[in-house]
Amino acid sequence: MQTRELGLRGPNVSAVGLGCMGISFGYADKLSKDDGVALIRAAFERGVTFFDTAEVYGPFENELVVGEAIRPFRDKVVIATKFGFDIDPATGENRGGMNSRPEHVRQAVEGSLRRLGVETIDLLYQHRVDPNVPIEDVAGTVRDLIAQGKVKHFGLSEPGVQTLRRAHAVQPIAAVQNEYSLWWRAPETNGILEACDELGIGFVPYSPLGKGFLTGALSNKVPEGDFRASIPRFQPGAMKKNQAFVDLLKRVAGEKGATPAQVALAWLLAQRPYVVPIPGTTKLRRLEENIGAASVELTAADLAEIDEGASHIVPEGDRYAPAQMAMVGREAPEKINA
Ligand SMILES: NC(=O)c1ccc[n+]([C@@H]2O[C@H](COP(=O)([O-])OP(=O)(O)OC[C@H]3O[C@@H](n4cnc5c(N)ncnc54)[C@H](OP(=O)(O)O)[C@@H]3O)[C@@H](O)[C@H]2O)c1
Repeated sequence: MQTRELGLRGPNVSAVGLGCMGISFGYADKLSKDDGVALIRAAFERGVTFFDTAEVYGPFENELVVGEAIRPFRDKVVIATKFGFDIDPATGENRGGMNSRPEHVRQAVEGSLRRLGVETIDLLYQHRVDPNVPIEDVAGTVRDLIAQGKVKHFGLSEPGVQTLRRAHAVQPIAAVQNEYSLWWRAPETNGILEACDELGIGFVPYSPLGKGFLTGALSNKVPEGDFRASIPRFQPGAMKKNQAFVDLLKRVAGEKGATPAQVALAWLLAQRPYVVPIPGTTKLRRLEENIGAASVELTAADLAEIDEGASHIVPEGDRYAPAQMAMVGREAPEKINA
């Protein structure tokens, strides 16, 4: 598979990564630890070198699966994980809300290093901005962890654009990880991609398949016990209206001899040379399909057709329930110097 530089500061990673969350968290269909390990190893054998996890996925469980899976080839892959939720470092209890206080960040990193079984976290993101902690304090803490060799690169997930710029001034940001796909294009207009262009920051679209919706594989109902059941965009009426996105992707996929999932990913890859999507799956055949997107070339005419088609579709429903919506795009408080 081709590789890409994730912005000016790297790292160099496979053009399509693997989002590991769904292996053990979030979706109704989860894998056993052994099957999760096998899937991640199969991805590596097929050229994937970029794996995404987080402390909160479980909590802890997902990092353990990723850590075990990559042990035989640790030096050949880039592991990204995230801190930022208020998780008890001893018990793994998610106490609710955010916690990016420096002492908590340091504890979270120790836990991630241990669970992943690595000496350095290749890419460490703040998962969500903490409304109580100046981003300068967070970036300064990560800068110290980098100096100690515990972390290589710093990233942010769903920051407000000023917070991104302020963090970057303290510790250069390697990558932003935000939701981005044909049915959620806010990064194009909210200043985030503009800041990435300007500052040489890589961009990692999460939920690049619209949490599965854009593939066309979902009926108009999500399975019970699945987090999508709480998302406005996945209510039956909304799914029916949003089907127009799937129809568009199916049409272009038919013209290209590809699948809708591949066109959705190839469309993201075409947006910027530093964009690296991380689709998640629990199934090897879908993993192979998603990796195949790196070989789907969308021409200027294809991209224009997608843009034109999408310009007539208004997505129905928010991408998260209100409590989760309140956590995205937030600005951190100003640092008041004593
Ligand atoms: N930073 C953040 O706040 C944040 C938030 C969410 C996710 N993430 C990261 O981003 C990764 C991916 O995001 P995501 O899981 O939310 O969404 P996604 O990758 O857009 O979609 C995953 C869903 O699509 C299905 N799927 C995958 N490939 C498919 C294919 N070719 N055909 C049909 N269905 C397919 C999967 O089901 P099967 O398993 O059945 O294939 C799963 O239900 C996560 O694993 C996580 O690492 C980060």
